[in-house]
Amino acid sequence: MRSTWTFHTAGQLLFGRDAVAHTGEVVRSLGGRRCLVVTDKILVGAGIAERVTQPLAAAGVEVELFAGGEPEPRVSVAEECVAVGRAFKPDVVLGLGGGSNMDLAKITATVLAHGGTCRDYAGDGVVPAPVLPLVCVPTTAGTGSEVSAASVLSDPEQATKFGILSNFLRPRVALVDPLLTVSCPPEVTADSGIDALTHAVEALTAVANEDFPLPEGERTVYQGHHPMGDLVAERAIELVGKFLRRAVADGGDLEARDGMALAATLAGMAFSNVGVAVVHALEYPIGGATHCSHGAGNGLLLPYVMDFNKSACLERTARIARLLGEDVAGLSDAEAAAVAVQAVARLRDDIGVPGRLRVLGATELQLAGFAEKAFTVKRILRVNPRPVTRDDLLSILRAAY
Ligand SMILES: NC(=O)c1ccc[n+]([C@@H]2O[C@H](COP(=O)([O-])OP(=O)(O)OC[C@H]3O[C@@H](n4cnc5c(N)ncnc54)[C@H](O)[C@@H]3O)[C@@H](O)[C@H]2O)c1
Ligand SMILES: [Zn+2]
Repeated sequence: MRSTWTFHTAGQLLFGRDAVAHTGEVVRSLGGRRCLVVTDKILVGAGIAERVTQPLAAAGVEVELFAGGEPEPRVSVAEECVAVGRAFKPDVVLGLGGGSNMDLAKITATVLAHGGTCRDYAGDGVVPAPVLPLVCVPTTAGTGSEVSAASVLSDPEQATKFGILSNFLRPRVALVDPLLTVSCPPEVTADSGIDALTHAVEALTAVANEDFPLPEGERTVYQGHHPMGDLVAERAIELVGKFLRRAVADGGDLEARDGMALAATLAGMAFSNVGVAVVHALEYPIGGATHCSHGAGNGLLLPYVMDFNKSACLERTARIARLLGEDVAGLSDAEAAAVAVQAVARLRDDIGVPGRLRVLGATELQLAGFAEKAFTVKRILRVNPRPVTRDDLLSILRAAY
């Protein structure tokens, strides 16, 4: 039985409109004189990269720009970024973008510090010591990678994704400027926003810390639900309920952008300590095979998995209904939990995230393979409140098909 828990996040959180203007002093405060900025062509084209590189140049920091990032980045792209880093020899690595670019920055800072290749660090607790100082600047409101211990890469050879998990991957500084998310198209806003909701829901409904089934001698950053995790997850769910529809409907709604930026970062704090569960385990093979975005795959699955899990965490699932603003006065926990599942499905539909696997192009024949692959992601599955078998995973997929 585990009786203690911990809470880790980025070393510092700098949050607010125009926070990005402080990039130069932030990097200098970490001793940075040479900064590798990891981003992509869309963000360069949108003028967002400049909003980071200008303050860096003004602070006398030499910048190398890697603009080769892509959505759900392949390992090969991470290796290209590492090669650019090896030539430039930065003292700080800055990830600018959605989770995809931030994750590239995180693995790059790891390989630059410790050598080898990206694949060498796959798994939980493999990174041996601190990595190069990392600054993460999200331009989506979704992944929480700016505070998290994870980096996720796509592995086209295995048609799945793999994660690198270590508290050493937590950025030294998370610089969250909601204004950077204003140019997100509605689909990116919707997909990343429902990913944040998935993080918060999976954290709030995770197995309890005292029951966390960690095998003797194993280390992990995930530890089951605990009071700090609950605090940030609950607030994140409330904010998503209030602001996600608005941010998708009107990208210029700054109040909604502020709310979603905070929601995503809080949800990142929650899941990166408590854990994510079956939704994320299933998304790895589904994303790997259909190339849907991480958020779309998660959002699609979330209500189905909540429905499967709710018997093991009725009160917590009922709480989600209240946090989303549903009127559940007078209902039993079981009734309110059913309302929570419907509320999440309605939110997903309202923002245009698909509700059926077939819409993503998956075939019925693929489902057993998805279940098989997801069943191997034990470090995630053991966070789930209800123990799952391979057949359970398959029946969730059938329901979602
Ligand atoms: N490390 C973690 O803790 C963690 C957690 C969840 C997800 N992830 C990973 O993050 C990735 C998904 O990240 P994401 O949902 O943030 O999307 P993303 O980073 O893949 O970005 C999606 C697209 O939106 C564009 N974009 C981003 N910000 C924009 C802006 N402000 N204006 C215009 N276009 C913009 C990007 O250029 C990209 O083409 C996946 O690879 C997923 O596995 C990581
Ligand atoms: Zn996620």
